[in-house]
Amino acid sequence: MFASDLLKEVKIPCKVSFVKTSSYSGTASTGQLKTLIGHDESLFNQHILIVEDIVDTGLTLGKIIEELRELGAKSVEAISLLRKSPAREKKIDVKYVGFDLENEFVLGYGLDYDGLGRNHKDIYRAIDPSDKID
Ligand code: IMP
Repeated sequence: MFASDLLKEVKIPCKVSFVKTSSYSGTASTGQLKTLIGHDESLFNQHILIVEDIVDTGLTLGKIIEELRELGAKSVEAISLLRKSPAREKKIDVKYVGFDLENEFVLGYGLDYDGLGRNHKDIYRAIDPSDKID
């Protein structure tokens, strides 16, 4: 959803490819990444902007950047709608950031919890069940 809304505002010629990785099971990062799949275009000598919905530990982004550089990209930059505190603390290089979050889990607007919730129009923060609501 973020990529779709963003691309409507991009006025320069560009090609769009979707790639896939996954590092999450439930709300905690497994720390393990599957290989990047789905880049069908030759990326050699191309300027690439990675469009991410959220950067948490930065593991996913780091892995994608590494693979794209290995494929001979001319430059690789990233934009993310959301950035969590671990990525800020680790100074993960995201050129454009929409909103900074604390280390909290969110879903909606394309973001999921174990596959569910992507279809919500808005973004919701998961409430810790131990939090007291008065
Ligand atoms: P990282 O590798 O830890 O930076 O995790 C990045 C990926 O984990 C994102 O592309 C999302 O798919 C997923 N992710 C991280 N935090 C959240 C969240 O709060 N809600 C939903 N997905 C998340």
